[in-house]
Amino acid sequence: MIHGKFTNSLRLWTIIATALFSVFSSAYTQVPWPEKMQNLKVLPESTTTDELRTTMFGFSNALGVNCVYCHVAENRRDFATYDFVSDSNKNKISARTMMRMVAEINEKQLTKLAGHSTSALSVDCVTCHRGKQKPTTLEAEMMPTIDADGVTAAIEKYRALRAQDYGRGRYDFGVNSLNQLGYRLLTNGQLNDAIAIFKLNVEMNPDAANPYDSLAEAYMKSERKWLAFINYSKSLELNPRNSNAEKMLNELKGALNND
Ligand code: HEC
Ligand code: HEC
Repeated sequence: MIHGKFTNSLRLWTIIATALFSVFSSAYTQVPWPEKMQNLKVLPESTTTDELRTTMFGFSNALGVNCVYCHVAENRRDFATYDFVSDSNKNKISARTMMRMVAEINEKQLTKLAGHSTSALSVDCVTCHRGKQKPTTLEAEMMPTIDADGVTAAIEKYRALRAQDYGRGRYDFGVNSLNQLGYRLLTNGQLNDAIAIFKLNVEMNPDAANPYDSLAEAYMKSERKWLAFINYSKSLELNPRNSNAEKMLNELKGALNND
């Protein structure tokens, strides 16, 4: 039964949402929270007003949306005009599908793992959504832009996302995600695009050894040996245990001397 099994996830949402309560509460003081809910199809019937409130704040925060994203209102700024009972907003229906999916993952699938522990973190809306209406990744945002508008446009998009979302957990701005995107482009044979992305990674992470190593590898593939040499040197300087860079530098020394 979904109802009974949903309680654990509900508890988790409650914990997460409580932390956000103070942020949301000032804007949402006029919400006419019902004493008794009329149209719960996934949450247990026993859900209290406090639990409902923290769950709804949790949903709003996880997706980075306001109540009107899932509920209908005549005037989105006036909570008296909301019809929270109504099911005519398609996003409310999608949210129910998601709630059932999350319950299925937590209660039926994760529990099958040999190493399953009841203290493990449960999957929650924010696990995937991270403040976005639809979950996405840097790669998913940038790949289509590279293909449609070119790598320069994609780099601009990266800078805009970074300026807007850094530190909010919406995207992984760490070293590895741009590195992975660069290798995806290399694999596709998009050599110049890969070089542009690896250069961006070096710019964003000037103290990390690996981005220089990847950039050097792409320069090798494009026969720009001096640039490869410079970047392998930088990588080795930052990480003296980078044996790949050491090996490549020895090969390059021979090749460059003969040029
Ligand atoms: C991502 C979608 C989503 C967001 C955002 C959302 N809700 Fe909901 N809300 C739902 C769903 C789905 C239900 C029904 C749950 C069920 O069927 O068990 C619901 C139910 C409710 C109910 C109970 C209605 C009843 O009597 O049956 C109220 C009240 C409510 N929401 C208020 C809010 C408020 C206020 C906000 C903004 C702070 C909000 N919701 C944000 C999806 C959402
Ligand atoms: C395992 C990852 C995952 C989790 C957990 C998850 N979602 Fe989603 N959600 C997605 C993906 C992926 C999509 C987009 C699917 C598509 O468009 O085909 C999506 C789409 C949605 C949409 C529709 C968005 C649109 O614009 O059409 C809503 C609403 C939504 N999720 C709400 C929730 C809520 C509420 C929760 C928590 C109860 C939740 N999701 C948990 C992955 C997840």
